[in-house]
Formats: sequence, structure tokens, C-alpha cells
Amino acid sequence: METKRLVEKDPTLKKDDLIVITGAGGFIAGNLVKYLTRKGFTRIRAVDKKPLCEWYLRMPGVENLCLDVSQEDNCKRVCEDAVEVYNLAADMGGMGFIERFRVECLRSILINTHMVEAAYRAGTRRYFYSSSACAYNILLQQDPKVRALKESDAYPAMAERGYGWEKLISEMFCQEYWAERGLKTAIARFHNVYGPNGTWDGGREKAPAAMCRKVIEAIDKKDLNITIWGDGTATRSFMYIDDCVKGIDLIMHRDDLIATPINLGSNELVSVNELVSKVEKIAGVKLERHYDPSAPRGVAGRNSDNTFIRKMLGWEPNTTLDKGLAATYKWIKEQYYNRKKGKRVVE
Ligand SMILES: NC(=O)c1ccc[n+]([C@@H]2O[C@H](COP(=O)([O-])OP(=O)(O)OC[C@H]3O[C@@H](n4cnc5c(N)ncnc54)[C@H](O)[C@@H]3O)[C@@H](O)[C@H]2O)c1
Repeated sequence: METKRLVEKDPTLKKDDLIVITGAGGFIAGNLVKYLTRKGFTRIRAVDKKPLCEWYLRMPGVENLCLDVSQEDNCKRVCEDAVEVYNLAADMGGMGFIERFRVECLRSILINTHMVEAAYRAGTRRYFYSSSACAYNILLQQDPKVRALKESDAYPAMAERGYGWEKLISEMFCQEYWAERGLKTAIARFHNVYGPNGTWDGGREKAPAAMCRKVIEAIDKKDLNITIWGDGTATRSFMYIDDCVKGIDLIMHRDDLIATPINLGSNELVSVNELVSKVEKIAGVKLERHYDPSAPRGVAGRNSDNTFIRKMLGWEPNTTLDKGLAATYKWIKEQYYNRKKGKRVVE
């Protein structure tokens, strides 16, 4: 039987304290490594199961490890001497991926189960878990004119099959490691994150990246048509990556948010049709729209209620979709034309 460890006030985090970040070959964790490096942290251990050549970002001076953190022994190795652990590794993607590969999504439970235990045993001071708006009750998301979701809307539980349930159970692990064992955990529920250095092709990409790529392709191939999944009326909010990494940092270091799930998302609600119009405007083009009602589309509407984050942090994600999309479009266009020229790019 484990006993609760003595909960002490944190000493100041030193610039050479070891910070571990999993999923670092991917989009959000890769950007988090960059953000913390720029803040001056000198001992960062970045971990991903993907080969290094497929990581979106690799920062100089960072210890990069290629390890599968669904394996218990690897988690022990990864958490050795860690002062803080950010666990962002998960098998995930956009609707096309999470509706089709529910087993893969559910199996991510192994990652958090072993990581949180290894972090606790290593004496880690703080542990961050990346949850998702997919943990919310889907019955509250059946209308495009959705009421924004507040933190208490996860229960009574009826999460998105597969991916959402894994997130909800992993959140509970984090809450109980605090309640029973005194590990300070932070839990953020991300709402659709987008931006440069993320997946833009290959089947795991999310709507903003997919729309940018489709518009770029249409222009390049001089075929001014676009196929949109669903009927274009579904609504979502999208958070720019810079807001996401800033929010992770703020949430991780607040004692009054320990073991408390909190929304981290934009509340600028747009329909898929509006998203396409915004990308068209950036590209300076108008495309003929075709709708594919049989494609995966997810819930009808989803938005983030930011009352709690505003109250707690006096801040909320605030990069406008127009601004964030312009930067994302530019990056994906570079990737697209580099690939066309035969240069190696990461998708
Ligand atoms: N992107 C979003 O809109 C969004 C929304 C809600 C929640 N999230 C969550 O945020 C986290 C990061 O998402 P992302 O968008 O950066 O995804 P991503 O797919 O770009 O990155 C995840 C990374 O985890 C790695 N990974 C998967 N299984 C692993 C394992 N067993 N061992 C080591 N590495 C492993 C993958 O190789 C990948 O590089 C995930 O937990 C995801 O569920 C993301």
C-alpha cells in the first residue's frame, strides 16, 4: 500500500532543473519544448516513439530520446531525476483518425498509467496531463448553436467513444494521485489546437490544417474545387499553438488548480464553412464547395466556456483565428512546395 507523500510548498523552479516532455516529436509537445527552451530552461528531456528524423521540431541542447512510453520500464527511465513531467504523448489525430481507430486511442491509457506512476516514484514535483474537450458529454454537443462547455459538463459522463473515455479515465488517475499520494497534477482540457509545426497531411491532420492544405492543393493543381467533410454547418473553436503552450505553463504552476480539470481553448466559435471562407480569403481564392456527408464529422457543435480560466488566471487564449490561420497557411504552403521540390518535409 502506498502512503501519501508529504506535500510541501515548491521551492523555486531552477533553470537547470530537469523537465521531461513526452510526445515531443509531435505538434504541441514539440512547441512546448521550444517555448521552455526559450524561457531559459537548460535541462529538457524530450521523448517520443517516432524516429528523430520525423519530429517536427528539434531544439539544440535538448536530450532527445526515442522511447515508447506505453512501456513501464521506459517510463521509469524517462522520469529519472525529473522535477517536472509534461505528458503529451498519445496516439491521436483529427476526426478521421479518432472515429476509425478507437482501440489505438484507448490503448493510450497505458501511457498515462505508467507515466504518472513513474513520475510519482521518481519524486517528481509536478505532473501535467493533456486532456481534451472530447472528454465532455456528447449529448450536450448535438446542436451547431451549442452552449459552450464548462468544466462540470464532463459528468454525468458520456464522452466521445474511445479517445474521450481514455482522456476521462486518465484525468481521474491524475486526480487520485493527488488525493491519495500527494503528487501535484495539472489537467488541461485542450479544445482543437492548430498552428505551424503540426500534422497537415496523411490522415491524422485536424480541420484547420486540412483546409489550408486543400486550398493550397486546389490552387497548385488549378482545380478550384474543395471537398468538405459533413455539411459544413458543424461548429468548433480553434486555439492557436502559442496560446496553448502559454496556458500549459500557467496551469501547471498554480496550486489552486492542482488536480482540477480546466478548459484550455478559444471561445471564438466558427462553422466549418466559415473556416473555409477564412482560408480562401488568406489565399485570395474562391473554390466550389462539395460536401461529403458520409465522412467522419464528430459532434455537431463544440465551444469552450472560458469563465473558469478567466477567473483563475485572468487570461484566456486570445489569438484570433484570422491571425493564427494566416501563420498556419504560410507554414503549410512552405511544406507543400518543399515536398513538391523533393525536399524532405514532415507530415
Ligand atoms: N491537437 C489538438 O487539437 C488536441 C486537442 C485535445 C487534446 N490534445 C492532446 O494533446 C496531446 C498532444 O497532441 P498533438 O496534437 O501534439 O498530437 P501529435 O500526434 O502531434 O503528438 C503526439 C505525439 O505522441 C507520440 N506518441 C504516441 N504514442 C507514444 C508512445 N507510446 N510513446 C512515445 N510517444 C508516443 C506520437 O509519436 C506523437 O509524436 C495529446 O495527448 C492529445 O490527445 C490535442
